[in-house]
Amino acid sequence: MSEHSRPATSDVNVDIHAERLLVLDYGSQYTQLIARRLRELGVYCEILPCDVDEERIVAFAPLGIVLSGGPESTIEDDALPIPQTVFDLNVPVLGICYGMQAMAVHFGGAVGNCGHSEFGHAQVRSLGDCALFASVFGTSDSSDVWMSHGDRVEKLPDGFTHVAESDNAPIAAMADSDRHYYGVQFHPEVTHTVAGKEILRNFTHSICGCSGQWTAANIIEDAVERIRNQVGSDRVLLALSGGVDSSVVALLLHRAIGDQLQCVFVDNGLLRLDEGDQVMQMFNDNLGVKVLRVNAAERFLNKLQGVTDPEDKRKIIGTEFIAVFEEESQKLKNVKWLAQGTIYPDVIESAGAASGKAHVIKSHHNVGGLPDVMKLSLVEPLRELFKDEVRRIGVDLGLPVKMVNRHPFPGPGLGVRILGEVNQEAADILRQADAIFIAELHAQDLYNAVSQAFVVFLPVRSVGVTGDGRRYGFVVALRAVETIDFMTARATCFPDGFLDRVANRILNEIPQIARVVYDISSKPPGTIEWE
Ligand code: XMP
Repeated sequence: MSEHSRPATSDVNVDIHAERLLVLDYGSQYTQLIARRLRELGVYCEILPCDVDEERIVAFAPLGIVLSGGPESTIEDDALPIPQTVFDLNVPVLGICYGMQAMAVHFGGAVGNCGHSEFGHAQVRSLGDCALFASVFGTSDSSDVWMSHGDRVEKLPDGFTHVAESDNAPIAAMADSDRHYYGVQFHPEVTHTVAGKEILRNFTHSICGCSGQWTAANIIEDAVERIRNQVGSDRVLLALSGGVDSSVVALLLHRAIGDQLQCVFVDNGLLRLDEGDQVMQMFNDNLGVKVLRVNAAERFLNKLQGVTDPEDKRKIIGTEFIAVFEEESQKLKNVKWLAQGTIYPDVIESAGAASGKAHVIKSHHNVGGLPDVMKLSLVEPLRELFKDEVRRIGVDLGLPVKMVNRHPFPGPGLGVRILGEVNQEAADILRQADAIFIAELHAQDLYNAVSQAFVVFLPVRSVGVTGDGRRYGFVVALRAVETIDFMTARATCFPDGFLDRVANRILNEIPQIARVVYDISSKPPGTIEWE
């Protein structure tokens, strides 16, 4: 093993799922954030919908439960209640925002409307000792928090004391320290709540008694063990895309089963500049992972000839990918398993979509059709991880930080960034322009401040003038957005001079381009990609 890929210290034989918390989801946009924060504190947790079968709550056997916020109002007749099981388990409970209000109602308190909603920064003042705020703020101290509510608790429930106040939420926090039930009106999971992490840590460690075994090193150790038990001596196939998820799956599997793993990397001709070579170099040469590269650019371009509709292009690229991958895999002997980089948010969203409760999964989900076609069993070692955890273990497994922090790249690649018909010339021009934009973002230290940046090729020509005459060339659009969840986004506002520099370089270095424009649309109503 190279120094680079040496694992961080793990607690061998630790059951990293033994200390577990449950997050009951009342529909807040921050529910996943709560879970990510608890995991960052080293505690395994899962999210279940608030109306889940109560047996599942019992079976999960959490050491503590967090009730999320949500858009509902406890004042409405059909407000979502807290299942009695939550309290029958005799474990600590933390209610956040709606979770606090629902707990107040459950125990005989009262909730009313503030008269006006409160969003954003507020100050809370501590009113007395409370385990949730220990070492965070003492009596009479104030702290900056983030609020987002229309209702508030107006009468404390039986057995609770009033432990913090704010101007708009006189009962900003309540506690029943005998039964270990706590409620906060503000959101400790968002970074604007300055002491949020310490407050959650008091809950997970002091109140629930967790010690923090959910660490990157322990996660890797556990995943490796589970992969070995699952696949035994069988061979496993992986469609390596070069993205973070499939790369981390490759490294985990490689650590677990070595050369029983066979990666197939399909170069569809729609990748970024030199991307195929870089993926091959990193895995084959630097990390010692066996990768079969299939150069299928011509095949994809042939299929895309004359096709201009974005959804048709997506379907063709997806179908062709499956066809190429299946053909290649048939050449490999004794493969029984297909590895996939499914991550925890995909699992939650699929469950939500199945029950009709959560957002619909994007129609552009990557390798959707593969498992059915391949008739192989699935191994999905990232199923319980959030993206930030995948990135962390990726770095521990030896992936370069630059690669781990790369902006997302869509499965159909440049196919949806070349508007209209996709052809070799457009792909080559776009690759060069994109590489200049990305290189400049790195050079000006702006890459990590942007969530996603790329260039779009427009199949229209425009007149320009160069020193020696007329130029009649293509138009490209620069796109850069800032977003937390890619569901909404706003166009990045770059420092003075940056866009001029990028445009100048593109126009000087790529003679086929006559004009560079910057896309200032936000999402909604725009989308991030142009197609
Ligand atoms: P939109 O354009 O829907 O993009 O605002 C949101 C995020 O999804 C990515 N995206 C895709 N990813 N296959 C993918 O794997 C696709 O067909 C696809 N279309 C968009 C997009 O890059 C952004 O990160």
